[in-house]
Amino acid sequence: MAHLEIRNLHVQADDKQILKGVDIDVHSGEVHALMGPNGSGKSTLANVIMGHPALEVTEGQILLDGEDITEAEPDERARMGLFMAFQYPVAIPGVTITKYLRMVLNAHREERGEPEISLKEFRKTVEEAMALTNVPREFASRYLNEGFSGGEKKRLEVLQLALQRPKIAVLDETDSGLDIDALNVVAHGVNTVAKAEGMGTLIITHYQRILHLVQPDRVSIMFDGRIVKEGGPELVEQLESKGYGWIREEVGASA
Ligand SMILES: Nc1ncnc2c1ncn2[C@@H]1O[C@H](COP(=O)(O)OP(=O)(O)O)[C@@H](O)[C@H]1O
Ligand SMILES: [Mg+2]
Repeated sequence: MAHLEIRNLHVQADDKQILKGVDIDVHSGEVHALMGPNGSGKSTLANVIMGHPALEVTEGQILLDGEDITEAEPDERARMGLFMAFQYPVAIPGVTITKYLRMVLNAHREERGEPEISLKEFRKTVEEAMALTNVPREFASRYLNEGFSGGEKKRLEVLQLALQRPKIAVLDETDSGLDIDALNVVAHGVNTVAKAEGMGTLIITHYQRILHLVQPDRVSIMFDGRIVKEGGPELVEQLESKGYGWIREEVGASA
């Protein structure tokens, strides 16, 4: 059973304090939703979990299964089973999705000291991942350098999720412009991979929409670099009816 623990995390970028003591947990088989107004520090948390070099941890810890990974390199974190969405590749002319996925898979195998995957085994693995996530077959032959729509980026992300089968996935839904089709792709992917693999998911969003498709077990609300409220799915409904102003007032009142 995997466990991602964030303890009293303080993070700064360019001498600006962004996270001011964040505590949050993600367990296997659990969907934890992180919500909060724009600029509260949600993406910064996602980036620091993956080891973004521009972010400096000034206090606190990030632990995966009890091991301190606060200073680990990003590829080391990936090898340990952390997955971060939105790392879709920049344009690589002439490289198909299939070829790219094979490169990613082989890079992971190499880090584990395993030999390259055979073509036959790779085909089978991708077909299974595509079936699991309802990604159409034609998608695999698309080129990476073609302009991807929001929905297509999501398809690639979900395919990677199904191939890599991480212990913990961090999904930052920064793109509020996603249409319902793209949201459905993500939701279906998270729900099926989570169910099949017992993956733990930290789903980060400003909006409630995706949380109608992926039912969170726990909800945390971030405000100005701190978690100011924690609860169950009922918090999503409260935010829906009252907006973030209500949180702002509560935080303001107790400050
Ligand atoms: N690399 C950076 N350098 C300076 N400020 C940053 C950097 N990254 C984020 N910030 C600032 O940190 C705050 C939180 O940003 P962010 O984590 O993107 O919030 P959210 O994802 O909740 O909208 C914002 O005020 C943003 O401008
Ligand atoms: Mg963000």
